[in-house]
Amino acid sequence: MSNIVIGISSGIAAYKIINLIERLLEIGHTVDVMMTKKASYMISPGKIEEMTGRSVYINLFEDNFSYEQVLKRRKVDHIELAKQADLFVIAPATANIMAKMASGIADDFLTTALLATHSPVLICPSMNDVMWYHPATQRNLHTLESFGYEVFSPASGSLACGTEGIGRLQEPRDIAQEITKILVRTTKLKGKKVLVTGGGTIEPIDNVRVITNRGSGKMGKALAEICYRYGAEVKFIHSEQSVRSHLPIQSIPFQSLNDLSEILEKEVPNSDLLFHTAAVSDFTSDAVAGKIESSKEIRIELKPTPKIINRIKKWNPKIQLIGFKAITSNSGKEISLQSEKLFNNANTDYVVVNDVSRHDIGFEANENEVYVVSRDQKVHKIDKASKIHVAEEILKIVFSSRPQAGGLNRSTE
Ligand SMILES: Cc1cc2nc3c(=O)[nH]c(=O)nc-3n(C[C@H](O)[C@H](O)[C@H](O)COP(=O)(O)O)c2cc1C
Repeated sequence: MSNIVIGISSGIAAYKIINLIERLLEIGHTVDVMMTKKASYMISPGKIEEMTGRSVYINLFEDNFSYEQVLKRRKVDHIELAKQADLFVIAPATANIMAKMASGIADDFLTTALLATHSPVLICPSMNDVMWYHPATQRNLHTLESFGYEVFSPASGSLACGTEGIGRLQEPRDIAQEITKILVRTTKLKGKKVLVTGGGTIEPIDNVRVITNRGSGKMGKALAEICYRYGAEVKFIHSEQSVRSHLPIQSIPFQSLNDLSEILEKEVPNSDLLFHTAAVSDFTSDAVAGKIESSKEIRIELKPTPKIINRIKKWNPKIQLIGFKAITSNSGKEISLQSEKLFNNANTDYVVVNDVSRHDIGFEANENEVYVVSRDQKVHKIDKASKIHVAEEILKIVFSSRPQAGGLNRSTE
């Protein structure tokens, strides 16, 4: 059974959390509760303490706070609870707490603990419909989703303020089900060793200039985080300039194509799955020592590089390989032509194709829109969404595939 931390903020639906706690205790979970100061006007912390047999946390600083005690114990409650949580549920989530979470504000026990957790976070908003549709709330919602937080959107119906519309807290029964779903998901890739590459390689021209590309590592980071959330043992092999994950995912940096190749040669034989999103340079040059004189025209001879992806299955024929291909159009013909090349040359299991001629998706963007092509040439389009959402959709497609030798099998679903 799991340790569920519930954070209650001061929405009028806070009273419903009693029922949610009852359900979670019945299943056998342990439940820790923290609430905002204002939530303690909505619902009695004492009643919850009676139910859970544990303290309810509201204040960051106790009345008799002493820093000497903290230094002696080397333990702080909000960090301990954040570490122990298998899942953090914010219910009800006010418009205010969503705004604070989206901005990283940590000004009370609950918001500080939230910033200090690696656990999955489920947000259950509830508010007046005008508050919900306010552009600030909608922007915060998108930001929270891009962090990989789960949002259980409110239901429509009669609201406490006397109007009808969207904004009702989802029923405790449904929140409990959502919690179970997330907890089950955290075990789906248990025991699987997943590699994700991301970012662009750097090939030197001289001691100052380099050949590189616009690969930011954002898609790779999103895939690494989703695989981690599904319980896999993940290594994120990324360019030194790439974005990093705040999650405890092993990070292996590379610079050049040769570095990346050496890392993969070592890691691939012991891994089950590789998402190869790194933008590997197609060209290199004979690097010159020193700094090339800039006063006159020069010609640099670009030589094609060996394709790392073509070696992966030689290093480990059983690995499930998901190749990524950047194209500059989204014509069906181009998608099937480019994916066919990777199937034939690299024996990939899937090819994820995206159109890098657009500025709103692909390289450097926070969102993506991709086509996932399977070996039988089935094409699944994943519509434009945050990279974390696209990453999860890619994973679901890979999951729902027929068992393949050595790849993910249905027993992990
Ligand atoms: C009677 C009453 C009901 C409220 N219900 C909600 C609500 O359902 N959702 C919401 O976002 N805010 C609601 N508010 C406003 C919040 O309590 C207010 O924004 C508060 O500052 C949020 O603080 P907190 O996020 O720290 O709990 C309500 C306020 C009152 C007085």
